[in-house]
Amino acid sequence: MSQHPKTSRITVAEIRALKGKEKIVCLTAYSAPIAALLDPFVDLILVGDTLGMVVHGLPTTVGVTLDMMIMHGRAVMRGAMRAMVVVDLPFGSYEGDPRQAHESAVRIMRETGCTAVKVEAGGGVPEAIDFLVRRGIPVVGHVGLRPQAANLDGGYKTKGRSAAEEERVLAEARAVDQAGAFAIVVESVTADLADRITQEVGAPTIGIGASPNCHGQILVLDDMVGLFDRTPKFVRRYGAMRDLITQAVQAYSADVRAGTFPGPAEVYASKAR
Ligand code: KIV
Repeated sequence: MSQHPKTSRITVAEIRALKGKEKIVCLTAYSAPIAALLDPFVDLILVGDTLGMVVHGLPTTVGVTLDMMIMHGRAVMRGAMRAMVVVDLPFGSYEGDPRQAHESAVRIMRETGCTAVKVEAGGGVPEAIDFLVRRGIPVVGHVGLRPQAANLDGGYKTKGRSAAEEERVLAEARAVDQAGAFAIVVESVTADLADRITQEVGAPTIGIGASPNCHGQILVLDDMVGLFDRTPKFVRRYGAMRDLITQAVQAYSADVRAGTFPGPAEVYASKAR
């Protein structure tokens, strides 16, 4: 993949301008060193609330708090100098009413320095997006599979397999678009539905388990570098980090037990002798 020549941070206008011209490349990151590794190659880094599961071992994203998002958002902003950084508003921090969404988004933007926030679609959310955008807060919408609503939606099932569901998700995407979201993540929907959304909304679509015709793509980094045993069907593995770490830790523990680590080159000699 080519390295991006630009040095200043990518703006909302620049992300929108990529629509239909170049694919928008996005990945998740939760820490400064990983963000620094991604930064030259991606347009947008998402500090996703998947960090609850990926980093903190929570069973779902429902337990993620605003403080957790802010802590990881700050770390990512220290590592990424060029890519746009978007931070998720976590479950319970924006769905109550637009003012609650505004308070949470202001905290996240003020305390992390990120450019935008992301919200999952649902009842009342378009009103919140409109409220935020009118007050200068760029918003990314998220439609299709909504992990924060998994308890209501019956788990992590692909959306759009019935005509009624297809119309419901399409209506959600239109509402998020009309409310002013500058990009829309489309997660785990049938390819036909993703294509309909991409054709009908004005904002660029960012697919994950969606369609190659979306304007951009996003994956959870830890999935695509192979950190986990099992990954969803839509993840392409570009690495085998789980094997790499296992082999390295096995070799290290064998060396420590055999007394061969540290060796002479790995200890400090005394100046006095
Ligand atoms: O939280 C997250 O990481 C996300 C991606 C899966 C798009 O929303």
